[in-house]
Order: sequence, then structure tokens, then C-alpha cells
Amino acid sequence: MSTQTESAAGPPAGAPAPPALAVRELTVRFAGLLALDSVSFTVEPGSLHALIGPNGAGKSTTLNVLSGVYRATSGSVRLGGEELTGRSPHEIARLGVARTFQNLAVSPYATVADTLLLGRHRLTRTGFLAAGLRLPSAAREAARHRERVVEIAEFTGLAPYLDRPAAALPYGLRKLVELGRALCMEPEVLLLDEPVAGMTSDERRRTASVIARVRESLGISIVLVEHDMGMVMRLADAVTVLDFGRCIADGPPAVVQSDPDVIRAYLGAEAAEDSENPEGAGSEEVPQPRDGAEETTKEVRS
Ligand SMILES: Nc1ncnc2c1ncn2[C@@H]1O[C@H](COP(=O)(O)OP(=O)(O)O)[C@@H](O)[C@H]1O
Ligand SMILES: [Mg+2]
Repeated sequence: MSTQTESAAGPPAGAPAPPALAVRELTVRFAGLLALDSVSFTVEPGSLHALIGPNGAGKSTTLNVLSGVYRATSGSVRLGGEELTGRSPHEIARLGVARTFQNLAVSPYATVADTLLLGRHRLTRTGFLAAGLRLPSAAREAARHRERVVEIAEFTGLAPYLDRPAAALPYGLRKLVELGRALCMEPEVLLLDEPVAGMTSDERRRTASVIARVRESLGISIVLVEHDMGMVMRLADAVTVLDFGRCIADGPPAVVQSDPDVIRAYLGAEAAEDSENPEGAGSEEVPQPRDGAEETTKEVRS
């Protein structure tokens, strides 16, 4: 294959869009532990790609490699024409990969507006000197960033809280601030590690709808690590399933959901036997509602 045309201005007209992210044979070893074992998947542009699997499967490790926090032992991650492995988190962010963290990382004193503005940092062109000298170009740029922050606050539902200290907000809103901050980077790809973990059901619904709109309205490709299977099945275009660091299934949600290997990984051998004898099923991982309502998240397993 000739690589001549690749150095020109993008792919030729009519060529299929390159994948947003191409992960190939990614392997990560920690001392004696193989956390990722030759994992490959492709994130299509503008799609929501879920990464699921039991605890310890390697989901966060994958996001940590994609964002440059961990180094891959071997394998490749490409964003368009750029190889991401071996680059620093800062460089990867500059190339257009933004992430949120499983635990909040918001300064205790910063307002929501300040925190979102921090996300604009990689897009700031005016140097410190121009800003310090209060040059008109710096003032114009700062005003543009503030406008965009307000737009993103409106998009995420954070507008009423812009002047409040982010750290004082309820948990669900603080998580939205993290998401808003990542959006302020104008990323091409957004990595979300369990964005609704620990939320109330109202907060979950609100966050899931923001995530759906990020893909639909902003066209950002999303890699979503999530335990809430209902949410994954509703939102995802494609699902990759990891188990003990290996990819055990990959495809559309409906196909992956009924894959026997996936059912086995999630429920364990015991439950797989139970499923042949439904009367004895009792090893649900999904928490039961406290009020004893019959409706549970059974759709996941059907
Ligand atoms: N920094 C690290 N050092 C050593 N082991 C790690 C590190 N990060 C993750 N692991 C191990 O790698 C495996 C995968 O972890 P992780 O990616 O966090 O799983 P998941 O997010 O799917 O629950 C686990 O066995 C975990 O203990
Ligand atoms: Mg994790």
C-alpha cells in the first residue's frame, strides 16, 4: 500500500471516514499481571462505543492507556493518522482526546465557570505575556472562551450553577462539571469512566441524556466504561466486552448481550447453570429496588 497520499490534506474525497480510534493488540503488563492481553477494537467516528466487563477486567486500564496515563507494553492506538502510544497525557489531550476520571478532580475553591474555563486551556493561543499586558487580542480571546463556557453550561444543564463553587455542589452536578470541563476542550473523542456511578436515578437519567446529546448534537465519538447495563444497551452503538484483560466479544449491543461468553463472564458459571433452571436463579448482581417493586433491570439479561 502506498502511503504517498496520506501526507496530503486528508483522505481522498469519497473514501470512508477513518475510525475515530483504532486500538490494535494493546497489551499492558503490571509486574506479573497481564492487565490487557492483545485487545483490539475500533471506535467509529461519531459513535458511542461502550467498554464493559466485570471488575478488574481492564476497562480503566484501557482508558488510562488511551489518555496516556499508562504506557502500553505493546500494541497501537491511532487517532486518525496519529499514533497515541508513547505520548504524554498533555499531548494526547492536545490531539483531541478528553477524559473524565472515576473520582472527581475539581479544586475546592473554583467556581463552576472557573472549572469549565480550565478545560479551555489547551485551546488558548494568546500567551501569558499578551494576557498579562491586557492586549485587545487577549481580551477578545478570553471573551470567546467565556461565551463557549456559557454555551456548554447551557448544554449540560450547569448554567444555573456557573458562579457556585463546584466542590459545594451535589455529587451528580459535580460529575456533570467534570463532563462539561472535558467538553470545553472541544475533543474529537471523549473517554468516560463510569460517569453515572454513585448517582441517584434522577442524576443518572439527566447525565445519560447529556451523554446522548453529546454524540447526537456535537458529533463527538465517545468511549464509555459503564456498569449500568440498561444505560449501555440504550445508548451504545457498539460494545466491546473485556474479561481478565481479554476481549471476549465485540459488536452491536443486542448481539453482545446474548453472547454466551458474555453471560458467563457476568453471571459466573453458577448463574449460567441457574439460567437453565430459572426457578433457582438467585445470584443477581443488579441491586434490587428497596421498595420491593417487581420491576427490576431484568432487560439486561433477557
Ligand atoms: N497501576 C496499576 N498497577 C498494578 N496493577 C494495576 C494497576 N492498574 C490496574 N491494575 C490491575 O489491572 C487489572 C485491571 O484493572 P482495571 O483496568 O482497573 O479494571 P476495571 O476498570 O475493568 O475494573 C486489575 O487486576 C488491577 O488490579
Ligand atoms: Mg475501573
